[in-house]
Amino acid sequence: MKRNRFIYLNFTFMLSVLLGSVLLAGCGGSTTSTGSTGASVTTCGNPPKLSKSTGLKIGFSQNISNSPWRLAENKSMEDGAKAAGDSFVMTDAGGQDAKQVSDIQSLISQNVNALIVAPLTQTGEVSAILAAKKACIPVFLVDRDADHTLAKPGQDYVTFVGSDFVKQAQLVADSIIKATNGQAKIIELEGTSGATPAILRKQGFDNEIKSHPGMQIVASQDANFDRDTARQKMQTLLQAHPDVNVVYAANDEEAQGAIAALKAAGKVPGKDVLIGSIDGETAGLQSIIAGQQLVSVTSNPRLGSLAYQAIADYASGKTVPAWVIMQDKVYTKDNAQANLVNGF
Ligand code: AHR
Repeated sequence: MKRNRFIYLNFTFMLSVLLGSVLLAGCGGSTTSTGSTGASVTTCGNPPKLSKSTGLKIGFSQNISNSPWRLAENKSMEDGAKAAGDSFVMTDAGGQDAKQVSDIQSLISQNVNALIVAPLTQTGEVSAILAAKKACIPVFLVDRDADHTLAKPGQDYVTFVGSDFVKQAQLVADSIIKATNGQAKIIELEGTSGATPAILRKQGFDNEIKSHPGMQIVASQDANFDRDTARQKMQTLLQAHPDVNVVYAANDEEAQGAIAALKAAGKVPGKDVLIGSIDGETAGLQSIIAGQQLVSVTSNPRLGSLAYQAIADYASGKTVPAWVIMQDKVYTKDNAQANLVNGF
């Protein structure tokens, strides 16, 4: 009788241990310790492994959906999920770091299998990326990266899928240097403060013109990657610097705002003032065709196929590089018309 009771107690103990670990795995639970480097290490992998490879539930956290670029990116992410046979749930942070952090928390509690995150800024979403790791959910960053001193690709998140922002800005600078023979007074409209493309595009452009003493940035301001912000900033800047002959804008939406402000000030964009920017938006291509914009280097928002390929590779145990690079192109009057079909 005593022996039977012992066997029964042992059986129920084993059952509860088994059940406990199944539940823990199901809700993405993990134990965390501190490795020799001081970095947090989870029992489910660094970064966490994908628990399955098909029929995934993908959570996509978008930072804002306020432009053709962002809408094209959203579509690409949703299309990618469909093509992979995954289910898709998306959040939109409306341009607020705090909202994006709570969006990611909410996706974690919905037990997504993997997270695709387009972080607003380099530091703003790091706490949520680390929280996902702790919950055993692998994170794939797209379009913007995180600060590598706070979160590392290949350790805290799987990879960054996106463009070479420094190179994009160098290419714009090269076109402008050529078109002005290295003589320019430039207004620089920067992107959202703290966002990877804003930081790296400024770095790329400013460094590229440094060796040309005739290229002078007379004013540089944050226009938040936004058309109307750029229009208003440009209106004010033109009053202080009526003799500028170049605008370098961090994206095509800002370039559109600058074009509107130049026209309102009685200047002829493309003639009195040359404009160079980044994205390859339909509006940018049309401005190039109309002779109002000199150049637009693409920043392809259709990152879905690369992102879902990275997820599939990761699930099958293949090595995913820390940076999956989206290759970009240069649009000028020579190829803008032919590439209108690729606009967005
Ligand atoms: O992160 C990519 C950049 O963000 C795009 O160039 C820009 O248009 C967007 O707002």
